[in-house]
Amino acid sequence: MKPTTDRREGSFKNNKGDSKNRQINKRKGTSVGNVTSGMVIKPHPLFDGVFVGRGKEDVLLTQNMVQGSSVYGEKRISVSLPDKKIEYRLWNCYRSKLAAGIACGLDNIYIKPKSTVLYLGAANGTTLSHVSEIVGPDTLVYAVEFSQRSGRDLVNLAMKRNNIVPIIADARTPYKYRMLVPIVDVIFSDISQPDQTRIVMENAQYFLKDEGGVVISIKASCVDSSVPADKVFSDEVNWLKKNDFKPIEQVTLEPYEKNHAMLVGLFRPQKTNKKE
Ligand SMILES: C[S@@+](CC[C@H](N)C(=O)[O-])C[C@H]1O[C@@H](n2cnc3c(N)ncnc32)[C@H](O)[C@@H]1O
Repeated sequence: MKPTTDRREGSFKNNKGDSKNRQINKRKGTSVGNVTSGMVIKPHPLFDGVFVGRGKEDVLLTQNMVQGSSVYGEKRISVSLPDKKIEYRLWNCYRSKLAAGIACGLDNIYIKPKSTVLYLGAANGTTLSHVSEIVGPDTLVYAVEFSQRSGRDLVNLAMKRNNIVPIIADARTPYKYRMLVPIVDVIFSDISQPDQTRIVMENAQYFLKDEGGVVISIKASCVDSSVPADKVFSDEVNWLKKNDFKPIEQVTLEPYEKNHAMLVGLFRPQKTNKKE
């Protein structure tokens, strides 16, 4: 089944994830009325803190931490319960590579409620805002971004979302922010730099716990536009394997992003002692 192409909503129907999505369909959910009539919202079967809205099209959602406000013009969906109102924000797969990775069939992003995250390349906070909602209000996300302009947006976002720590710095120099960032559970990187994998692993040496999750969005043409994308991805994986990284899974992000792969793995995985 081909993914749908509604860019405004970023709705998805995906090949690898489709059987999982069908499972959601079978269960009864919460019907919501005031924005998207007939939509059924259920927790995502694989990703704690992420929700799936099933209506005419499937959409990914996170629960809005700041009710009544959007971050990048995304739609919001309110659900009125007897004692409270909950609001969800659409997580657009065309605007967020992490959402695209989920829609394209990743099994684990390691980002879940209560996992501290170091986010490299936070830009204006589009994906970051969803990550901050997945980990929850009591868990911090350390967001590194070197553009001053995006940095201003990040600071404004962090004023509304207390679990975001904006760090306006170059991710190539982790020693400069070592006093701000503790040991984290996950590093997510989306910095579109030719030496991104090296930058990620340098940050991992400073901040990532052993067996921590590493999630990297790789744009092939940023690394080397003279060879096929597949070759770029496999070279990056081979380099990472020699540098304390165990690859777990990889998906390409078509049709949401061309020439991109999302790579997921573990840092310094424990060696299992097999008895001969
Ligand atoms: C593709 S955009 C990130 C989009 C963002 N992750 C999202 O989904 O909302 C890449 C960002 O990485 C930032 N960046 C690139 N190199 C960087 C570096 N060495 N240190 C910090 N930020 C960097 C750029 O300024 C840009 O904002």
